[in-house]
Amino acid sequence: MKKIGLASSALAEVLLCPSCRNGGLVPAANQSIVCSACGMEHLFMGNMPCLYTDGIAQKSIWRHNIAMMTWGGQQYIHTLKMALKRKDLRPLTSKRLQTLHTAYHHNQQTIIDLFAKAGIAGEIREDLAGQPFFDVGGYFSFIARDWAWDSPHSPFERSSENADHLERVLRLVNYETWAGKRVLVLGAGAGRLSWDLLCALQPDLMLALDNNPLLLMVADRLIKHRKKLVIAETNEYPQIGKTPTHFWELQPPADDANMAERWFAVCANAWDAPLQAQSFDVVITPWFLDVNGGDPRLLIGLVRHLLKAGGTWINTGPLLFTAGLPAQHKYSAEELSDFIQLAGFDMLAQQVEEVEHLAAPLMVRRRREQVWTFAAAVDHNKGAADPRAWLYLHFIPVPESVLLQKNAHPIAEIIYSLVDGQRSVGDIAIILAPHLPEGQDATLLVLDCLAA
Ligand SMILES: C[S@@+](CC[C@H](N)C(=O)[O-])C[C@H]1O[C@@H](n2cnc3c(N)ncnc32)[C@H](O)[C@@H]1O
Repeated sequence: MKKIGLASSALAEVLLCPSCRNGGLVPAANQSIVCSACGMEHLFMGNMPCLYTDGIAQKSIWRHNIAMMTWGGQQYIHTLKMALKRKDLRPLTSKRLQTLHTAYHHNQQTIIDLFAKAGIAGEIREDLAGQPFFDVGGYFSFIARDWAWDSPHSPFERSSENADHLERVLRLVNYETWAGKRVLVLGAGAGRLSWDLLCALQPDLMLALDNNPLLLMVADRLIKHRKKLVIAETNEYPQIGKTPTHFWELQPPADDANMAERWFAVCANAWDAPLQAQSFDVVITPWFLDVNGGDPRLLIGLVRHLLKAGGTWINTGPLLFTAGLPAQHKYSAEELSDFIQLAGFDMLAQQVEEVEHLAAPLMVRRRREQVWTFAAAVDHNKGAADPRAWLYLHFIPVPESVLLQKNAHPIAEIIYSLVDGQRSVGDIAIILAPHLPEGQDATLLVLDCLAA
């Protein structure tokens, strides 16, 4: 049996089967984990738990996505190869194309090798052809930002982005120690902030959760396995006086205090987080609140669900909501603060800064973002202090008093029968949804009925 992260009792205590949301997880044979309650088998990638609602079937999805990514990458590499065969190339153009070809080919092979070592070899699955493609290479530049741009070996001016991210959070928590605490980073990306905070504040457990296995595998390789990795960074556009590509050797971070033993990566969808309720002292959402694909109010509910009584939520990042998010969910900081307080959090401290983001040393072009950083402490008992909180926050239980104002909606009786003082609008909508005609929004129906 593979000796894996679950050997740490601190990790095993916080994990939950995402399929039944009932059982804990225990290591099994064949590089897998099983749920102690429903028996669902889940996947390990290397030594990283990969916990999805469909269990081990997620392996086929990753294999399909890797094959799709490889196919897309090969198309581009092929166009470079074809261009290199042209008879009208001057030596400088040939050199540039050759450099790009080498870099793209290297990255493609590196990603394929990382997944292959974790037991995920690319394979196109016809039955998954219609599914949305998850681009594992989507946040590739975060790897270089996290683990290369501030390297003492960098031939360029060293980036201060990672140090600034850390400093921004430390300033907010007044450099207190997190000894004895369990910390979760939701949307941890390539893991650097989770690592830096672990080293600075030394909590007992630091869990880095993300649904991008590539970013986590790189972090896991550097932090846990202490193995180097070479990646190529390329300039999309010519930058005068700058090299079009650079090969970075990512080094494992220094770890004199053996902090890696307390750091764990879990690959999962935050919306089906395989985590026990109220199991963390601190939840951090760095550059995540706006890009997680969901209604930010539900993220408030998720963080509240995961925090222990009195626990702290630390958010840091912009409000650059994903384009597909409906306008009503692209909330301002004021609207979000209102929801956060309505959910029973006390805003402890906050600040807004303008910072450069993903300022690659190879690029002259710069992005400037507004970063909202706050710390808020949860009081689970305060959540329903406003008698209408359930209406705006769909994770707050609907009080039975709503039954006093019944209306004559056709399926109202069914909805009323589901109000028990425990279920929220979201819970009722989940029960109702399978019984509604396709395309009908269950949440809106529940609200229409209950919010008379
Ligand atoms: C903008 S990046 C920020 C990454 C990291 N926090 C940082 O600051 O470098 C957003 C991250 O959230 C992750 N993410 C987005 N939606 C997610 C979801 N539903 N569950 C888990 N991770 C998610 C992405 O994979 C990505 O790594």
